[in-house]
Amino acid sequence: MEVIIRPTADAAAELTAQIIKKTVATRPNLVLGLATGGTMETVYDKLAREHKENNLDFSLTRTFNLDEYIGLPPEDKNSYRYYMNKNLFSRINIDLRNTHLPNGMAENYTAESEKYEQLIKDNGGIDLQLLGIGRSGHIGFNEPLSALQSRTREKALTPVTYEQNSIYFVPPESMPKRAFTMGIGTILDARRIVLLATGEAKAEIISKAVEGPVTSMISASALQLHPKTTVIVDEAASKNLKEKEYYRWLFDNEPEWEEYKG
Ligand code: F6R
Repeated sequence: MEVIIRPTADAAAELTAQIIKKTVATRPNLVLGLATGGTMETVYDKLAREHKENNLDFSLTRTFNLDEYIGLPPEDKNSYRYYMNKNLFSRINIDLRNTHLPNGMAENYTAESEKYEQLIKDNGGIDLQLLGIGRSGHIGFNEPLSALQSRTREKALTPVTYEQNSIYFVPPESMPKRAFTMGIGTILDARRIVLLATGEAKAEIISKAVEGPVTSMISASALQLHPKTTVIVDEAASKNLKEKEYYRWLFDNEPEWEEYKG
């Protein structure tokens, strides 16, 4: 795992978007894992701009989202399918048939989960997985005590996640209590992972996930087991990290980051 600290939330989102851009540009038929949530909106704005202004080509890109609320149809404004269409897919030249999310209306949860896993496998696995982190430490909707080897399945959401996400629902109580989510094992199979976290509200959980012990109490800590994970944070989210100086040194000195400067 490596940690990159950028001065502002916008700069952190910009670096994330640049990594995705370079990967899409060098590998047109990329399999891209996507996340939703407030943090990602800026990243998707930047990718949409790259497409509009610099013709970044998504025509062969295939995508798999991490999760979807159970009980919400695609046309529901709070479904993650709706979010993805609105924030990214409708703004770039992606073929919608190549974009995948679990079907929130599926009645057989096990069959839907197995189907999703199989589809990822049939596409050759995920090349680059984008992640946010919830205040519960979840990645996708892998709430505390999710098995570190878990696969796609339906999951009950914690009160912390309910508090975090119900602000988007009118009334807040209409937020579903369950969701389909890729498992931690599914996420760890991705060849590269980029997690973006911004704002002071994420500082405590980021320090636990990055510098604390690997524990199923904090799903994101499992990323410490992955060979190529980059955690990108802004100054506010890095507040509680102990090894900040080392992380800054890495960005300043590692040749890999040269092309992302200036
Ligand atoms: C959503 C997802 C979640 C979010 C996390 C952070 O697809 O996978 O893990 O990334 O809840 O959400 P925000 O960015 O709204 O703080």
